[in-house]
Amino acid sequence: MRQVRGFAHGPTLNRRRLLAAGGAATGLMVLPGPVSAAPMERRLRAAPGRAALVGAGYPDTEVWTYEGGVPGPLLRVPQGGRLRVAVENDLPQETTVHWHGLRIPLAMDGVPILSQPPIASGETFVYDFVAKDAGTFWYHPHVRGFEQVERGLSGVLIVDEPEPLAVDRDEVWVLDDWRLDQLAQVTEDFGHPMDLSHAGRLGNTVTVNGRIVEQVPVRAGERLRLRLVNVANARHFALSFEGHRPLVVAYDGQPVAPHEPEGGLIVLGPAMRADIVLDCEGRPGDRVSIVDRFYQGREYRLLDLAYDREAPLREDPLDAPRVLASNPVPEPDLRDALTAEIVFEGGMMGGMSAGMMNGHRTDMRSLMRAGKMWAVNGIVAVGEAMEPTVTVPEGRTAHFTLVNRTAWPHPIHLHGHHFRVLTRNGAPPPHREWRDTVLLLPEDRVEVAFVAGIVGDWLLHCHVLEHMAGGMLAVVRVA
Ligand code: C2O
Ligand code: CU
Repeated sequence: MRQVRGFAHGPTLNRRRLLAAGGAATGLMVLPGPVSAAPMERRLRAAPGRAALVGAGYPDTEVWTYEGGVPGPLLRVPQGGRLRVAVENDLPQETTVHWHGLRIPLAMDGVPILSQPPIASGETFVYDFVAKDAGTFWYHPHVRGFEQVERGLSGVLIVDEPEPLAVDRDEVWVLDDWRLDQLAQVTEDFGHPMDLSHAGRLGNTVTVNGRIVEQVPVRAGERLRLRLVNVANARHFALSFEGHRPLVVAYDGQPVAPHEPEGGLIVLGPAMRADIVLDCEGRPGDRVSIVDRFYQGREYRLLDLAYDREAPLREDPLDAPRVLASNPVPEPDLRDALTAEIVFEGGMMGGMSAGMMNGHRTDMRSLMRAGKMWAVNGIVAVGEAMEPTVTVPEGRTAHFTLVNRTAWPHPIHLHGHHFRVLTRNGAPPPHREWRDTVLLLPEDRVEVAFVAGIVGDWLLHCHVLEHMAGGMLAVVRVA
């Protein structure tokens, strides 16, 4: 992977000293065993709360939570199961919940105006849908995401395969990035023009499952399934597992032929997920660092795998399949595809001089005064209700070429669909994987294809939440 230039902000909040104080407990979620196939009713109350993000020696951080937690509760439903979630809004702002990566009806997609009126303070909205695909998904608000997600609103939804992989432990690691002040409080400079026009809101504190984690205990010989979920507004990760060979078995919830990633790096832009199978091949007492290498010159240790002193669980890696059964996602038919080129432009050092905003050609200086910096096919989005950039007949294959004409990386997400990645800069990727969010590095050109599934207006946007707020959002209509 090409590295991306360094930025002003790295995770630097006295992290090493803070970490030295922690240690014993890891705060990682260990998943419960198999669940029943019964329909699941859950409540998600969104409300202000507190969380011990940094830990010893620092005050709790004021956050916004689902059910009091950061991240919110882990929701889990069997494939084909139905989930009914009552979202109670006790925030001082309106909100919605978007079920990222789920192929569900538009009315359940959580986009204000396009899907539903936003949930006002004091109101409740019930989301009700069937989980068609097994995998690792997540949920987050789709109103003022650059503030609401940053304040802590997000959670993971696991849809269980009928035949789970045989592993010793199945764990979720929710990766988040926070910009905290010296008292460990979230700085309230949401949507700052510097962040909007550059890399988005990069923070100074990286948490795993809502706290700074020093180490994760492991036992020699055990096999882990790690579900990595990047819920950060803007931080990208490229994780290397020193001396280990993590095998990717799914991206964005969709199974992929198990493989070791290029350069051994698990790359996760905002909103992206990777399920990996990790055989703990170290020896009792070993300590192995997981290092994030995404930003050049800003590498840092995320956490250590700390091997206990017990005898290895087994001498040879577990002899069990690591292939997940595929989901029922319709295969695109490229012979009869509707093609479109979708160009992302803007930001600093991008050379964009003007864009169409509210139907008027607007120069960059006026755009910036309006808090807008980005465009999709020349259009600068103001809110979600907009004319479609592309209209695809229901059931037809769409074949898009996504072009990054900017100086910044953008994780581009399509709602309600997964697409196959056909080419990257002209070359087919080794696994033609399915994704709901694809990372475009500067000047990248990526071809994707999908079958237009469900009638409606679906968002296509950058998941750097400041870029989305700054206009990098479009609508794909399925009609
Ligand atoms: Cu995960 Cu439109 O979002
Ligand atoms: Cu972006």
